[in-house]
Amino acid sequence: MLLSDKNQFLRESFRLNAMLLLRCNGNSAFMKLSVNELYRIAGCITGVRVDQCGESKEIVQPSWKVDDMKTSGFYLLEMKRIAVFLRGIYKAVNAKLSEVTSRPVRILYAGSGPYGELLTPLLHLYKANEVLVDFIEINPVLLLSLQKLIDGLELRQYVDEFYCADVTTFTVSKSYDIVISETMLACIKRESQVAMMQNLIPQLSKDCIFIPEEISINASLITPWIQMESLSYYQNEQALLERYPLGNVFKLSKLTMQNLSEPKVVKIPDEIARFPLLKLFTTVKVYRDEVLIDNDSGITLPKQYYDFREKAAREVEFWYTGGENPQIESRIVENNR
Ligand SMILES: C[S@@+](CC[C@H](N)C(=O)[O-])C[C@H]1O[C@@H](n2cnc3c(N)ncnc32)[C@H](O)[C@@H]1O
Repeated sequence: MLLSDKNQFLRESFRLNAMLLLRCNGNSAFMKLSVNELYRIAGCITGVRVDQCGESKEIVQPSWKVDDMKTSGFYLLEMKRIAVFLRGIYKAVNAKLSEVTSRPVRILYAGSGPYGELLTPLLHLYKANEVLVDFIEINPVLLLSLQKLIDGLELRQYVDEFYCADVTTFTVSKSYDIVISETMLACIKRESQVAMMQNLIPQLSKDCIFIPEEISINASLITPWIQMESLSYYQNEQALLERYPLGNVFKLSKLTMQNLSEPKVVKIPDEIARFPLLKLFTTVKVYRDEVLIDNDSGITLPKQYYDFREKAAREVEFWYTGGENPQIESRIVENNR
């Protein structure tokens, strides 16, 4: 096959798999097929593969702000996360397109990774004068990979600028309609999602859509057997029946940027014999009805904080700490059972 034919084939396959991913609803076989194929094509064009993200000395790890590439590389293959984000972003772009008619919809993608995976597959669905994107990535090797992919897929006309910069200190100089940033782990641990949102959101216009729209973390007591079951990705509805909700401990959105570190106290009911484990459950509302819940992806995996069979409690306090090791911290505030 001639090189030009091969590139044409890769571009066409990328386009078809992106469409399949948007339309496959919850069909996990199609989701897996198309995410794998998108990833394979991106790896083929850029020469940067997921497994290399952990091993190559070429891939610079700039600072604490970037998570362990050995594990993080696999976020690229997280099919449901990618499908739900792509569907949400597609809906957000279409909503903005119906409002903004005389100019392109301006998008900022902060923390794009090597493929801009949550946006690149959508670009060919629009005319070049309909969307205009700026990418920010702190890691120069990953940014170079993204540039290669954009060129290889002949999407350059959709891109205004590639910034190699730290999103947590980045000064926004344009008016964006949509800003995308997905740089998180479950329970907003370690990564700089919150710091990025704290820097970007005050600089954006009131009408700008920030994606994800909301990240919330709720505490619940659960039964031990649910823990086993959830490992096998069975129905979440069943788990909800066996859950004793305690309340919200963290919420982050355009409207709830203040007081993130304010402690939240949850009361532990007297009768908890059936529900001795306290876990935090992360929910990511990408856009409108496109939502990721427990076990949908690595970024919404439940995290256990207490086993009350070992140590009883009446109240537990949770609070968010930022800085170099962002996380939700906790302590038992009363323990007189
Ligand atoms: C978990 S990956 C997600 C990549 C992509 N958004 C996706 O969902 O496939 C996070 C990316 O953000 C970049 N990143 C992390 N902290 C950053 C910062 N402070 N400024 C700019 N980029 C950052 C990392 O280098 C990495 O490529």
